[in-house]
Amino acid sequence: MESMGTLKRTHHCNILNKSNIGEEVTLMGWVLRRRDHGGVIFIDLRDRRGITQVVFNPEINPQVHAKAHGLRGEWVLAIKGLVAARPEGMTNPKLATGEIEVMVSELRILNQSQTPPFPLDEEVEVADTLRLKYRYLDLRRPTMAANLVLRHQVAQAVRGFLNDEDFLEIETPVLTRSTPEGARDYLVPSRVNQGRFFALPQSPQLFKQLLMVAGMDRYYQIVRCFRDEDLRADRQPEFTQVDFELSFIDEEDIYQIAEGMICSVFKAARGMDLAPPFPRITYAEAMERFGTDRPDLRFGLELVELTEIVKNCGLQVFRNIVEQGGMIKSINAKGCAHYSRKDLDDLTAYAGQFGAKGLAWVKIKPDGQWQSPIAKFFTPEEQAAMVAAMGAEVDDLLFFVADQPGVVHQALSELRLELARREKLVSKEEFSFVWVTDFPLLEYDHEAKRHVAVHHPFTAPREEDLPLLASEPGKVRSRAYDLVLNGTEIGGGSIRIHRKDLQETVFAALGITSEEIKDKFDFLVQALELGAPPHGGMAFGLDRLLMILAGRDSIRDVIAFPKTQKATCPLTEAPSPVSRKQLTELGLRPDWKE
Ligand code: AMO
Ligand code: AMP
Repeated sequence: MESMGTLKRTHHCNILNKSNIGEEVTLMGWVLRRRDHGGVIFIDLRDRRGITQVVFNPEINPQVHAKAHGLRGEWVLAIKGLVAARPEGMTNPKLATGEIEVMVSELRILNQSQTPPFPLDEEVEVADTLRLKYRYLDLRRPTMAANLVLRHQVAQAVRGFLNDEDFLEIETPVLTRSTPEGARDYLVPSRVNQGRFFALPQSPQLFKQLLMVAGMDRYYQIVRCFRDEDLRADRQPEFTQVDFELSFIDEEDIYQIAEGMICSVFKAARGMDLAPPFPRITYAEAMERFGTDRPDLRFGLELVELTEIVKNCGLQVFRNIVEQGGMIKSINAKGCAHYSRKDLDDLTAYAGQFGAKGLAWVKIKPDGQWQSPIAKFFTPEEQAAMVAAMGAEVDDLLFFVADQPGVVHQALSELRLELARREKLVSKEEFSFVWVTDFPLLEYDHEAKRHVAVHHPFTAPREEDLPLLASEPGKVRSRAYDLVLNGTEIGGGSIRIHRKDLQETVFAALGITSEEIKDKFDFLVQALELGAPPHGGMAFGLDRLLMILAGRDSIRDVIAFPKTQKATCPLTEAPSPVSRKQLTELGLRPDWKE
């Protein structure tokens, strides 16, 4: 191995072109590919920016050429040489450097490499755990490197926009108390205060509210949040929020700031000009039309309610469900009457995963007749009314789910997405934003047997709904909003409660006792009594936004060092066992076997 010595890198690997022909340059990077063409050796030298072809010709320097014979994939090189035009017919229009090559006169091998555990060529599919174990190799792959570049650009665009809007970037503690976003906390034992624990923040929620009480007026932070919850493709145990909060504002101000920020991000990341304001839909309407509070508006396939039409029909399951306070909703899969028996069975099983006890279907034949196992249970009038409600035409395939609203909505909203995937109705190049507003303040938690906050307990209720808080708490609307992009919740927030009396009323409606308030939120309640301004804010899931911008299906691909579905890190093997001594120091007595 050799040192760089006096060699200084003059260019990166994606920049040389015709205008550099004749220049002497020094490049450093990794061997991507090596080709031996009857005496002349070609190396594709790679760095994070791109590739340059470098050439070892025995006629230029026989020693260097001989040395190049030993080069292998991922060795680290410094080369010096002259930029030359590629011979006629050998140019590569796909590469930024495709018109030139560098004729090497000096080669230093800065480091060797063992054969990598997986090929770093783009086309190769590699198992996720292997990629994570050798993440530093995975990140050498150009698309992965591009995701990190994108992440940087987006973070800079966010900062640039918010700085221009007079926000202050302020850090908040990582070792803190449990916050109320509703997931399980990651706990950190305290050595100096044994038996006591910090919680890693699920978000900076309480601190950013306190910063408003402190008069900071406009705060933001690109901040890590920690949640010990079941992981999915768009959930990591630690993830990043673009978190902001403002004083003396209402919902419209928040929407404007958020839309401005998203516009800057899309301009920076994609060169795209979005057209705000983004559409808005109330929670109630989103549930009614799409069965979910994060509707993907890139396609139709809306849910149509048929409860009234079929409540007296001949199909007993449907009648029973209506009698039990349930509902029947449907989706018209336009032009899908050609689906096979197997397609229908697969879709039934799919809907079943989301709780549907059955998936009734009807195919509309060319003569307008119904082909369906349930056709006989409906009178011609009922059939006509259903067809009219659903706008059904020849060749359409109609699906029905009967159940309690929660199940109907979950099953049909998922079926809707599945149908869109099958019919290729969605494009990753289309970006469809929608604000979801007027969330309910509370929802009934059947396990806890009490109402819980839909957003978090500091979310302000709509003033005009306050009288309902005692009588029909489930009907009180909040001043919370989410921003949804292509069916993913990319951000959410609310106008907060800034008066102590209202905060205590809401705590009471949530069944949070005064002891619990004293124990958990006393500092906040106190702050509300010491001149808290009206305020509100929101937080974006930066990883989710990036996942969509990068056209990926998992947020792992836009995080440098993510965790697996089981919340582990194959690279560092965290979480790892610790010694008994460490535990004893922390005042912990393990009862598991080592
Ligand atoms: P919320 O809990 O809705 O709000 O979180 C804000 C946004 O963060 C993203 N997100 C996640 N991303 C990846 N992995 C996770 N486990 C994860 N959990 C959430 C989502 C979500 O929209 N303090 C409030 C914000 C506020 O009221 O201002 C909060 O944390 O994109
Ligand atoms: P069954 O009488 O149980 O054989 O059901 C007749 C048809 O109704 C079948 O196609 C079932 O898939 C469908 N079905 C049964 N229960 C439901 C339900 N809860 N919602 C929608 N369709 C159902």
